[in-house]
Amino acid sequence: LLKVSLYSGLLGTGYLSYQLYKEKHPAPQTPQSATFVNGSPRKTLVILGTGWGSISLLKNLDTSLYNVIVVSPRNYFLFTPLLPSTPVGTIELKSIVEPVRSIARRVPGEVHYYEAEALDIDPENKTVKIKSVNKEHEYQLDLKFDYLVNGVGAQPTTFGIPGVFENASFLKEISDAQEIRMKIMTSVEKAASLPPTDPERERLLSFVVVGGGPTGVEFAAELRDYVDQDLSKWMPGLSSEIKVTLVEALPNILNMFDKSLVDYAEQLFKQDRIDLRIKTMVKNVTKTTITAKCGDENEDIPYSVLVWATGNAPREVSKNLMQKLEVQDSRRGLLIDDKLQLLGAQGSIFAVGDCTFYPGLFPTAQVAHQEGEYLASVFKKLYKIDQLKWQAAQKNDADDSKIQNRISKIQAQIVPFKYHHMGALAYIGSDKAIADLAVGDSMYRSAGSFTFLFWKSAYLAMCMSFRNRVLVAMDWAKVYFLGRDSSV
Ligand code: FAD
Ligand code: NAI
Repeated sequence: LLKVSLYSGLLGTGYLSYQLYKEKHPAPQTPQSATFVNGSPRKTLVILGTGWGSISLLKNLDTSLYNVIVVSPRNYFLFTPLLPSTPVGTIELKSIVEPVRSIARRVPGEVHYYEAEALDIDPENKTVKIKSVNKEHEYQLDLKFDYLVNGVGAQPTTFGIPGVFENASFLKEISDAQEIRMKIMTSVEKAASLPPTDPERERLLSFVVVGGGPTGVEFAAELRDYVDQDLSKWMPGLSSEIKVTLVEALPNILNMFDKSLVDYAEQLFKQDRIDLRIKTMVKNVTKTTITAKCGDENEDIPYSVLVWATGNAPREVSKNLMQKLEVQDSRRGLLIDDKLQLLGAQGSIFAVGDCTFYPGLFPTAQVAHQEGEYLASVFKKLYKIDQLKWQAAQKNDADDSKIQNRISKIQAQIVPFKYHHMGALAYIGSDKAIADLAVGDSMYRSAGSFTFLFWKSAYLAMCMSFRNRVLVAMDWAKVYFLGRDSSV
């Protein structure tokens, strides 16, 4: 037994040291030149975005085969599944981001990165107009591409409901999490300065989340945890007055989960004093009040912090692109074929993740991640096809039957994208989670504290880097031993 523990201890330490070494010392990278050794031109692949789809593509791509250019206003990857834990301080923001530079240094061939946003994609001339996001270093460029992958994600939708944009916070980016944190703490401190009988105090302590999808549910759960587990220690009287309300237009929250899990979550919310308002649709928002319709009744809900999580809408750059292509007639996202090629763009533009709409594929990290992996394998084959076409052109014989046969064979190997659904997980508060897992052809469902441990280990395993894994684990340990604080 002693020997086994000794060996496993040594193995564990060895593995840890190797991972730490790898994190700090990326391998040397091939500098990119305009042509390959055989004289053929290196094609330019522009990747828009640094989210789940684009980063999964980048990590799996043989970047030495292309002149790879990444364009994104965000110079990091954000691990969104743990974003709802950040406004209340369960997880620190730095723990769930991974810099693009460190990802780009770990791939085989050099990658160019522009901290910029794509404004306009021209599918005909194969160019993309980009604009820097750095106010002190403003520039606009037209990048020429042979292939482009659109992975710009989506923006939060407000359905045009008056007052949402001006008064609510979203939960999509790091800046959103910081804003929510600031609003919560400011409201709490303001309320503390007012007498308990003041109605303004009640409004200041009313926190509302709109949208009973997984984002809204997970954030409401984290917020209630924070109030009950930590704020209650620092501000015992005031914390008991804090009201967390979750508003959902449909008869149920978490519609992608099995009914038994939804019932479990709703029951827990009741127990945890999250005021769940189902069949309640928000119609208007002012600086202090939300007006919602429940049945035939209109109800006013005073609030101080409003988090809006009602799903996705296409970004401007995707909308512009849709307008340029006649076949693009969906308002829900860019239409793609089963090989992730943008309809109407003749094979030069691909799209992944939340910016797309394809029946049966939902806007989740899981889908975007698998699409990125798939595209990396497609680009390997496209490189081979392009090389063969170049060889044929060198021979001045585009119809060379041998080469054409080889091209056809490789083309046949580019099979349609197939999504493998692993299931869905959600944190629902009080150290409990729900899981709807796909095991083979059947679904396995579980809920409770054990599922929460599974949720934690699954997300830990999914983190982008070893560094993220260590930081997230340390954050959980910190909250367990020291709790969360009440500073801004
Ligand atoms: P994103 O990851 O959103 O990335 C888009 C990228 O494009 C970003 O880098 C952005 O900066 C960049 N960009 C934006 N505009 C431009 C532009 N004009 N030009 C260039 N780049 C641009 N899914 C799950 O499966 N499981 C979960 O647990 C889960 N939890 C979530 C929690 C939260 C709070 C949220 C908001 C989402 C969650 N999701 C989850 C959904 C998941 O995050 C998305 O489906 C996923 O991020 C989509 O990946 P994407 O690459 O399409 O877009
Ligand atoms: P969502 O689209 O899943 O849910 C939005 C909810 O808001 C819907 O239930 C809708 O009925 C409700 N709604 C819309 N308008 C409303 C109004 N005016 N008043 C009240 N309610 C209204 O959006 P969400 O949660 O932002 O998720 C986006 C995507 O990200 C989804 O595909 C989701 O699966 C994925 N995601 C997955 C997570 C997980 O697996 N744990 C966590 C977070 C997001």
